[in-house]
Amino acid sequence: MATTVMVLNGPNLNLLGTREPEIYGTDTLESIEAACRKRAQGLGLNIEFRQTNNEGELVDWVQEASRSVQALIVNAGAYTHTSVALLDALLATDIPVVEVHLSNIHQRDEFRQHSYVSKAAEGMICGFGGIGYELALEALAKRLGTILEA
Ligand code: DQA
Repeated sequence: MATTVMVLNGPNLNLLGTREPEIYGTDTLESIEAACRKRAQGLGLNIEFRQTNNEGELVDWVQEASRSVQALIVNAGAYTHTSVALLDALLATDIPVVEVHLSNIHQRDEFRQHSYVSKAAEGMICGFGGIGYELALEALAKRLGTILEA
């Protein structure tokens, strides 16, 4: 059976490339997706890569992921810091969740230093820009046994 990881991106991440490049870098979400696809292939994983600006859609996708894929990578953008609904959806899944942020949220505004997503995540990668998604894929490939070495 193919092992699939759903990669979910929240609000404003569609603007990557032009959005506050001094914080988020110049990679676009499309280029991050392309790098993830390439990396996933080498790791024996399929990916489903999505972005939405809507909280309810993120919740729906987490519920869908529980039924249809083997793991989740989540960068919930600002909903990371506000969404109990997203936390509840993540707590209801029994698949592994890795939280990713491009920026190091612990060096930023105080309100960004708390993450609801972290309460449901096995681990969190932040501060490495788009590479963080690839690191999360490596961690999951090891965790799910699609590769022996990462
Ligand atoms: C972010 C950090 C959040 O605080 C912010 O609201 C984002 C992006 C990151 O990837 O660094 O939209 O999740």
